[in-house]
Amino acid sequence: MALQDAFSNVHLLVRWLHVMAGITWIGHLYFFNFVNIPMQASLDDATKKAVNPQLMPRALWWFRWGAMITFLAGLYLFTVNYMYTPGAGFGPSSNFMVDGKITGRAIWILMGMLFGTAMWFNVWFIIWPAQQKILGKKVAGEALAVLRTKASKASRMNTFMSGPMLFGMLAPAHYGAANGLTLIIAVTLGMIAIGWGYRHSIKINTTV
Ligand code: HEM
Repeated sequence: MALQDAFSNVHLLVRWLHVMAGITWIGHLYFFNFVNIPMQASLDDATKKAVNPQLMPRALWWFRWGAMITFLAGLYLFTVNYMYTPGAGFGPSSNFMVDGKITGRAIWILMGMLFGTAMWFNVWFIIWPAQQKILGKKVAGEALAVLRTKASKASRMNTFMSGPMLFGMLAPAHYGAANGLTLIIAVTLGMIAIGWGYRHSIKINTTV
């Protein structure tokens, strides 16, 4: 006898996959921004040439596929939670709309998904294509510097967006109510936390 119906079991599995992949993605994003960038500044060119061709393709593999699986599982969760009602079929569910009015829960997830989707886009269409050219040594000189700046700006932007994005993931099921003020507080707190991360990452004392 199944503990729950098939729908609930698949739902839990996808939710689990979404968070596992999300941790993998954002964990690597924080590794790049809070650990690797400050660390690279202390390496000489010969060490960089030895370390980076080994380190970066591996880290970027987990990073970009983590982003893709998080995104696809997230779209599934959105469809099933907000655009489907068991027994009634597809269309805005009571999680999305009540009496013709969008719910607080839906406002939170739309905010989270807006940030998350922009971040996914940056990974697949800006950061990864730029890194492919950088690591494949397809560009040099001024063009290489431009590409590095483009990739690092997109990565920094994603790091800042990750703070508010996570409020948008957690608030729908665990908080619910939303208005302009709660959203502003979540975005501000999320960004302040990331700003603190950047400031702290360059101050960390490497002598133990
Ligand atoms: C890439 C775009 C993303 C989309 C489209 C998306 C979509 C969703 C959806 C629809 C839900 C369900 C909300 C609900 O139950 O009301 C959710 C929950 C959640 N998401 Fe995302 N998400 C994205 C990125 C991320 C990332 C990067 C993380 C980082 C770990 C993450 C972590 C979570 C967590 C922790 C939950 C709550 C699980 C729970 O409380 O049961 N999401 N997401």
